[in-house]
Amino acid sequence: MPGSMSWSRVALVAGLVTLLAFARPEGSIADEVTYSPISGDPEAPRRHFRVKDPAQLDKAEAGRIYDELAADMAAAYASSGVPAAQDYQAWLSANTAPYRSATHGRRYVNNYVNDTAKAYLAYEDAGRLPVGSVLAKDSFTVTATGVIEPGPLFTMEKMPDGFSYVSGDWRYGMIMPDGTLFGETNGKGSERVKYCITCHLAQEAFDHLFFVPEDYRVVEPSE
Ligand code: HEC
Repeated sequence: MPGSMSWSRVALVAGLVTLLAFARPEGSIADEVTYSPISGDPEAPRRHFRVKDPAQLDKAEAGRIYDELAADMAAAYASSGVPAAQDYQAWLSANTAPYRSATHGRRYVNNYVNDTAKAYLAYEDAGRLPVGSVLAKDSFTVTATGVIEPGPLFTMEKMPDGFSYVSGDWRYGMIMPDGTLFGETNGKGSERVKYCITCHLAQEAFDHLFFVPEDYRVVEPSE
């Protein structure tokens, strides 16, 4: 009927308003955050999507930007419902400041490890991490023109023996900055995260782990 609005449409509009309010929280750097579309074929990425002009930030500046973004990023990742994305910022931190990861789309990244994975902080001496270990790497980009954008959350979760020989029983996961699960090994979008396994396989002797660059490492907390 012209001029009238069905309840389903009202619900849709209300949903959109909520979504926009959530995506653009007030009073933070996130006001200026823009989400750019994925480049290339999203169904078959060969590597992480890259930033054109990543800015060179010192540790303090990168840390300051991250402090502004972190809470909003955590809320968005958590909205995926993926267990590994619920509380990761409360875990042990494995880096002293965000660093630029050439292999993760040249984004600035941070690594967190859950309690089960605390041996990670022994780095090359960590050995094979126990089942239940979860590693979470969040990310953001800063272009040379100063545009700041949250990036994906990268996760690795150690599954029981036999989960996947080729991945060392790690389940790789990637959650987009809007909370969409992009893919996870042996689950939704498994094909899309195969390239994670391929690259990390180079570190098979270290349980498929590459570890944090040396000058950003947190030394294992003494107990
Ligand atoms: C081209 C190689 C490459 C690809 C592809 C890659 N990674 Fe990594 N990954 C690395 C390197 C190198 C490090 C350590 C240094 C760093 O953080 O950049 C790392 C570190 C990590 C860590 C922290 C644990 C560790 O190894 O120290 C996680 C978690 C992670 N990657 C998840 C992923 C996920 C999920 C994907 C796929 C969506 C992926 N990676 C794809 C090279 C790669």
